[in-house]
Amino acid sequence: MTNFNAREIRKEFPIFDRTVREGKRLIYLDSGATSQKPRVVIDAESHFYSFSNAAVHRGAHQLAEEATDAYEGARKIVADFLSAEVDEVVFTKNATESLNLLAYSLGSAKKESELHVTAGDRIVITEMEHHANLIPWQQLALRTGAELAWFPVDTEGRLDLSEIEKVITDRTKIVALTHQSNVLGTINPLDGIIGRAHRVGAIVILDACQSVPHMSINVKQLGVDFLAFSGHKSLGPTGVGVLWGRSELLADLPPFLFGGSMIESVTMTSATWAPAPRKFEAGVPNMAQAVGLGAALNYLNEIGLEAIHDHEMFLTQRLITGLEQNKSVQIFGPRNLEMRGGVVSFGVEDIHPHDLGQFLDSQGIAVRTGHHCAWPLNRKLGVTATTRASLYLYNEESDIDALLEGVADAQTYFGGK
Ligand code: ALA
Repeated sequence: MTNFNAREIRKEFPIFDRTVREGKRLIYLDSGATSQKPRVVIDAESHFYSFSNAAVHRGAHQLAEEATDAYEGARKIVADFLSAEVDEVVFTKNATESLNLLAYSLGSAKKESELHVTAGDRIVITEMEHHANLIPWQQLALRTGAELAWFPVDTEGRLDLSEIEKVITDRTKIVALTHQSNVLGTINPLDGIIGRAHRVGAIVILDACQSVPHMSINVKQLGVDFLAFSGHKSLGPTGVGVLWGRSELLADLPPFLFGGSMIESVTMTSATWAPAPRKFEAGVPNMAQAVGLGAALNYLNEIGLEAIHDHEMFLTQRLITGLEQNKSVQIFGPRNLEMRGGVVSFGVEDIHPHDLGQFLDSQGIAVRTGHHCAWPLNRKLGVTATTRASLYLYNEESDIDALLEGVADAQTYFGGK
């Protein structure tokens, strides 16, 4: 038991007032795909549209001023949340867009820039990336002639860093990796990777989709150069993500999208760019969603990231222990809690994950099944799909117990052991 009161927290999330599948209590174990939203987030977005809606950074009227204050206020909340500077926070549509922005802009960096990527350079990723942090780098490699290399995953679902100097070579320009695997739950050890990358002059890009919502992150202490996360996995709305970058790098990086709001001056044949972050936010931005994200991060801060993390780890231990007692279950990823977060993927002998997912759903238990947008990792694990439970602050011990019972019931139903 912990003192963390998930039952009280659930009351602040309207979705838990509903039932699913003929009156069953909703047991939501799919927060790795998207989190549920507390009332304060829904209200913040609704309040923006009801009282302050106007296009930010333009217009001389009161509403435009209020909208700008709300939008820029949200940027300050994100910056404080990451212990970053406010001008280092770029709002995007989601983490996928943040990573695409980077891959595209790095591919367009001027020849004289240190960020310029060209044939013969190396881009390093890992075998555990989800597609959002894999395909943009594949495409950048194809466009520039750079070579794509990666750290393999070992049998326990950790990165094999034994040949780090052979993987991150002197020609490496970019190292892009996930902080926490969305399939294995593995939290990657960053220090050695960042140290080696910086020694050869490479930048480090951290996909923090699965870590920012669940643990306290200080970008300065981490020592990475860029970081991406999504609002919707962090209790915030869909349609807003964040790219954080060190200011001197953002200053050097060319824009990704062109249009209004991102310019300094324009003639009929040319244009110059506003400083970051506006250089990267063309058009009328996702104002209400940014405001909603600000409310979400304030809410997470009020509860406390450490308390949330401890609660999730307590539940993760309960889940892993329970699954380990079932001889027909195979867990993918580290068992040691020090090396992982609250995402647990597993397989059950003789039951296809899709069948298991459907069976659990009939009991009101929402899990994700499939390749989890990480197809190469599934191949490495030797499976076509897994069943994944991903936890958050609103989950209770009873959710874990329901899942364990659901798996056992499915084994009986499908005639397994
Ligand atoms: N990458 C997200 C997930 O793991 C979509 O579900």
